[in-house]
Amino acid sequence: MDEKKIAGIKVTEYIKNNMLLGLGTGSTVYYMIEKLRELVNQGLNIKAVATSQSTANLANEFKIPLVSIDEVERIDLAIDGADEIDGQFNAIKGGGGALFREKMVANIADKVIWIMDSSKVVDSIGTFPLPVEILPYGYRHILKKLKLLSLNPVLRMKDEIPFVTDNHNYIVDLHIEKAFDIKYVSENLKCVTGVLEIGMFLNTCDRIIVGTSNGVKVVENTNKISILNHKN
Ligand code: A5P
Repeated sequence: MDEKKIAGIKVTEYIKNNMLLGLGTGSTVYYMIEKLRELVNQGLNIKAVATSQSTANLANEFKIPLVSIDEVERIDLAIDGADEIDGQFNAIKGGGGALFREKMVANIADKVIWIMDSSKVVDSIGTFPLPVEILPYGYRHILKKLKLLSLNPVLRMKDEIPFVTDNHNYIVDLHIEKAFDIKYVSENLKCVTGVLEIGMFLNTCDRIIVGTSNGVKVVENTNKISILNHKN
């Protein structure tokens, strides 16, 4: 079976009755949502916050009950995909352009599980371009600043016009080298006016579920630093 599919199905074992879920974005998450539809049809009671319009559309089509992020105080479990992840659970996300909402949802979740195929697990992140959400206002100046910082920014395009996120912003993909200096990049990006969020998720997940040619592999992150005081 497809590696993404087995990871997407496996993660549903962690979904329990009455949970408030965060639903991520992407092709791996699609399989999880497909399985979730089955479980909801069989009587599982859950509510979910979607991290993108495309996920919200899918959930609506599958009759999975949604709530908005501002209707909830916290989320029990956020399930999402990843573009690259290293051995310290540092990840690049945002290949689908949903990084802002994905980070908001992960930040209020008690538990975060990422699902992926085996190609996403790397020794050092950076081969996949790092997505950054920026304000459209003054975007040419933001790009100029990112160039000055040697971050090789490329404005993401779709149908020959800039790609627009669900938050009505632009995405810049930073083509930095593998094993880049995470501290340098995150500290400098934070100082650029117009940068709204970075697709770098450092030690954010509690567990990853990886589909491999030999079946599914579950890896626990025992060193996650909790920023929420209600976590246990
Ligand atoms: C969306 O913005 C991303 O963070 C996705 O979670 C990521 O791109 C994984 O996508 P796939 O599951 O489609 O590979």
